[in-house]
Amino acid sequence: MTLYDKAVKCVDDAFQDKQKRHFERTVYWMEKFYPAYTTAHRIAAYSHDIERGIMKERDRQYLNKDFIRQHEEDRARLMAEFLKKEGADDDIIDKVKHLISRHEEGGDEEQNALKDADSVSYFETNAEMFVRKRAEQDGYEKVKGKLDWMFDRITSSAAKDAARANYEKWRKELDVAFKH
Ligand SMILES: [Fe+2]
Ligand SMILES: [Fe+2]
Repeated sequence: MTLYDKAVKCVDDAFQDKQKRHFERTVYWMEKFYPAYTTAHRIAAYSHDIERGIMKERDRQYLNKDFIRQHEEDRARLMAEFLKKEGADDDIIDKVKHLISRHEEGGDEEQNALKDADSVSYFETNAEMFVRKRAEQDGYEKVKGKLDWMFDRITSSAAKDAARANYEKWRKELDVAFKH
C-alpha cells in the first residue's frame, strides 16, 4: 500500500466513506490547478478535512473566522500525526501540513490551489446538502453566506470558471426555496 493509499483509507475510515466524492474531486481539481503536484499535494487534497469522527456540532460555525483557522490547524496537525506514525519523510509531512493549514483561507500559490480545488469540489459535491438540508436549520442568510464565500475566495480564473455554473445553480435554488 502506498502512503497515498494509506492516507485515503485513514480518511475513509474517519468519515465512514461519507465525503468520499468531495475528497476525490478535490484531488482531481488539485491536479488540474497545480500541475507540479507531488504525493504530498494529493494526500493534502484528499485529507484536507480529516476529522477523528463524523462531523461535530462546532462544524456548523462555518462562517466564523476563528473557527476556520482552528479547523485548518486541527486538520493539519491530525494529518501530520498520522503521517509520522506511518513513517513518512519529514519533507512530505511538512508539505501536507503547510497545505492543509491554509486550505480554507489560502496563502501562497499551492495553498491557493488547494483552496480553489476545495471550492470547485464543494459546489459539485456538498453545496446541495447545504441548500436542501442545512438551509432549513441554519437559515437563508447563513447558507447564502457560505455559498458566496466559497465562490468569492477562489483565486484563479480557471477555478472560477470551473465552479461558476454550479455556484449559480445552487444560489438560484436557494433563492427559489426561500422566495427571494
Ligand atoms: Fe475544510
Ligand atoms: Fe473540503
